[in-house]
Amino acid sequence: VGASLSAANISIERTAAPKEKLPPTKLVFGHTFTDHMVQIPWNDTDGWLTPKILPYQNLSLDPATCVFHYAFECFEGMKAYKDSNGSIRLFRPDKNMDRMSKTAARICLPTFDHDALIKIIAELVKLDGDWIPSERGYSLYLRPTLIGTQASLGVAPPKSALLYVIMSPVGPYYPTGFKAVKLEATDYAIRAWPKGVGDRKLGANYAPGILPQRMAASRGFQQNLWLFGDEGYITEVGTMNAFFVFQLPDGKLELATAPLDGTILEGVTRDSILALARERFDKDKWVISERKFTIQEVADHAKAGTLVEAFGSGTAAVVSPIKEISWRGQPIAVPLQAGKETGMVAEQMAQWIAEIQYGEVEHPWSVLL
Ligand code: COI
Repeated sequence: VGASLSAANISIERTAAPKEKLPPTKLVFGHTFTDHMVQIPWNDTDGWLTPKILPYQNLSLDPATCVFHYAFECFEGMKAYKDSNGSIRLFRPDKNMDRMSKTAARICLPTFDHDALIKIIAELVKLDGDWIPSERGYSLYLRPTLIGTQASLGVAPPKSALLYVIMSPVGPYYPTGFKAVKLEATDYAIRAWPKGVGDRKLGANYAPGILPQRMAASRGFQQNLWLFGDEGYITEVGTMNAFFVFQLPDGKLELATAPLDGTILEGVTRDSILALARERFDKDKWVISERKFTIQEVADHAKAGTLVEAFGSGTAAVVSPIKEISWRGQPIAVPLQAGKETGMVAEQMAQWIAEIQYGEVEHPWSVLL
C-alpha cells in the first residue's frame, strides 16, 4: 500500500562542512565515509516517502526500535568506479537491487522499485563523485541499508522502515599484489543451512561468523572454509563464495562452485565469474559446474595432484586466492602459479572484471552514470 519508490522528487541538502579526504593510500576498508547520504522513510500507510540526500549524519532512534531487538536489517555491497575519462560507473547494480528486494521481503521489510533506487543512488554517487579516487584499484563502496524503525517490542512486521545509503572510498584489497590466504575448514559451526536464510544478505548472517573466524585466526588461519552436513559440503569461505579448479580424469579442467540451493549467498561476483568462464573459457578444455562437492573430494584431488586452484569471490576483494586449507588438523596444500600468490583463473578473472568495472572494455555490466 501507499506510494511506490520514486526518484522524481528527490530533495538535496548539501553539507555546509565538507570533510577532509584522506590520501588514497591511507584508506582502510569501510572506515571513512563521504559527505552525503540517502535517506528514504517508508511506512505502511503512505508507502515510500520522498527520497532525501542529506549531509552524512547520525540516526536518532528510539531504544525500542525493532532493528535493535529482532534484527530487521538487510544491506547490499556494491561499488562505483571512475573510468579514465573521469566518468562514473556502477557494476551490475540491478543484481544488488534484486537481491536486496528478495532479502527485504524475507524479513517483512518493504520492497521497492529497482530502477528508482538505482537512480537515487546515482544522484548520491554523482554528488560525492570527487570522493572516488581515480587510481586503478580504487573505488567507492556503496552500502544500501534497510532497517525496520518501528519503536515496539512486539514481534511483528515493522510498520515503518528506513532505507539509507552510505558510501566509503576504498583502496585495492591487495595494495602490494595478491596475498593468498590459509583457511580452516570449519564443521563445528554452520554458516547456513537448507531452508534457512544464508542466501539472503541479512546483517544477522554476519555477526555469528566472527567468533569462528577469531578461533581460526588464533590457530594461524585467516578465514573459515564453511562446510555443511556430515558429508562436509563446501559452501563459502569467510564472507565470500568459493571456487575450486580440479583436473578431471579425461584431462579437462573443472571450475566448480556450490549451487544456489539456499545455503549460498547469490554473489554478484560469483555470477560474473561463472558467466565469463562460460563465455570465454575454451569449451573443449573446461567444464563449468555449479554442483555440490565435499572437503574430502578436495583432499582426494590434492593427494592425486589434480587440485589446481582455489579462491574466494566477493564485491570487496573481487577474488581472494587460497593457498592452504586445514582440515581436521591436516594441511591441504592448494597450488599457486610459480612465483605468484594466485592461481591462473583468479588472476584472469580479476583482470577481466576490473577491465569491465573501470570501463576499459565496454560491457553491459558496467553502467555509465
Ligand atoms: C564481500 O564483498 O565479499 C562481502 O561480503 C563484503 C563484506 C564487507 C560484507
